[in-house]
Amino acid sequence: MQRELIIRLIYIVATALFIIGVKLLSSPKSARRGNLLAGLGMLLGIIVTLVQLKVLDYTWIAGSMALGAVIGGFLAVRVQMTEMPEMVAAFNGFGGLASVLVAGSAYFIMQANGELAAADVQNVTISLSCLVGAVTFTGSGVAYAKLAGKMSGNAIVFPGQKLLNLALLLTALTATGLLLNSGGSATWAMYMLVGVSLVLGVLVVIPIGGADMPVVISLLNSYSGIAAAMTGFVLKNQILIVSGSLVGASGLILTNIMCKGMNRSLTNVLFGTFGEVSGSGGGPKVRGDKSKVRSATPEDAAIVLEAARKVIVVPGYGLAVAQAQHVVRDLADHLEANGCEVKYAIHPVAGRMPGHMNVLLAEADVPYPQLIDMEDINPEFEDADVALVVGANDVTNPAAREDTSSPIYGMPILNCDKARTVMIVKRSLSAGFAGIDNPLFYLPRTMMLFGDAKDFLGRLNTVLKEG
Ligand code: TAP
Repeated sequence: MQRELIIRLIYIVATALFIIGVKLLSSPKSARRGNLLAGLGMLLGIIVTLVQLKVLDYTWIAGSMALGAVIGGFLAVRVQMTEMPEMVAAFNGFGGLASVLVAGSAYFIMQANGELAAADVQNVTISLSCLVGAVTFTGSGVAYAKLAGKMSGNAIVFPGQKLLNLALLLTALTATGLLLNSGGSATWAMYMLVGVSLVLGVLVVIPIGGADMPVVISLLNSYSGIAAAMTGFVLKNQILIVSGSLVGASGLILTNIMCKGMNRSLTNVLFGTFGEVSGSGGGPKVRGDKSKVRSATPEDAAIVLEAARKVIVVPGYGLAVAQAQHVVRDLADHLEANGCEVKYAIHPVAGRMPGHMNVLLAEADVPYPQLIDMEDINPEFEDADVALVVGANDVTNPAAREDTSSPIYGMPILNCDKARTVMIVKRSLSAGFAGIDNPLFYLPRTMMLFGDAKDFLGRLNTVLKEG
């Protein structure tokens, strides 16, 4: 009895650590501590669960943990910052697969023991765990392949797609009903449920392409949490229910933030209609008049920047690729020493993962109050002497505001084009993630600073320092 009480108390401590950890993750200053506390909560959860379940043979568990730690450690060291989004997609997928495997084995064990009574709530939780887990697994697999460039990032659409998805969902729900009705004895219904859900996962993600990927990644993240919470109900394990619910809820909140960033409603996302709307990806659509492009040297840029009183830096994915955060910070320090006000405009989907720009700039110790969210910074572009765009493209594209035929039409953007001068540091006129041309490159007040961001800004810093 006392043992049970201690176990419950430790579960409560672990739960509290998760919640405090998530809270601390909301600020870059406390995020590391938050991560550590949540990890400690997870360790407590694992130890207590093993003790509670009185697992006698620890060989398999210890072996699997060691193998997982080696693979995880190897991947963590090897993965580039720019590959994080596909890594997150893979994590989500494995989470979904784990839920299917655990719920599936619970099903077979309970069936063998005759514990699956007709209409037992266990049948519902097992089915939901398998359905959501399988959709998450294959959906995340497709998201991974798209992000890693292993398959085309284009939206793949075909006639009757939504009807087919609906039919598959109904089939999965029918299989759940049959499983319930048979008191868990209709094993074929279980196989049908998992098979149909695996196909559904692929079909719901393939129509999503280009700039819409952030929404789908955070949604799959949420699904992986929901699947884990369902598995917690299957195993009657409180800590799994709590941690799964936390992931499910925070993933949904993130989805909501991403939806706002992309100007999509959540229903629009949940019913999978937005891939078709966007139809994005697939290389530049319209190529502007190259003769209008004004290419500039570090010396040209230095003259304008020396005279500037207010500069808004607009970081994007190219900043991460070039690892240019430190040279950007050096440049900002120089400008500030010269009496110029410097701010950073943060678009919610800049880069390839939520908070990507915040993480990069924090790495270079950019003061956090200088990082301003899109809606707050947008009115300030009109007063800015220079909008310095570093490796950003889609999030600055005025076509999203003006061109109703653009695949990203309606997506809120950073209003860089309102600044007196626009400087764009990138290597070429190539398109960004959404695969579309950017009219910003061809404006008369735009200076294109061609080159790798770190290299170009490094040279610019030298020119500025040499005065
Ligand atoms: P993008 O539109 O993808 O543009 C990045 C630009 O960086 C490219 O046009 C590229 O041009 C330039 N670049 C690449 N390497 C560079 C280097 N070494 N030096 C200088 N420039 C370099 O980036 P964005 O504006 O940040 O927009 C993000 C896009 O990704 C959005 O479409 C968003 O929907 C999508 N997305 C976001 C997320 C999240 S959650 N943030 C997740 C998945 C997808 P060059 O090749 O000419 O240099």
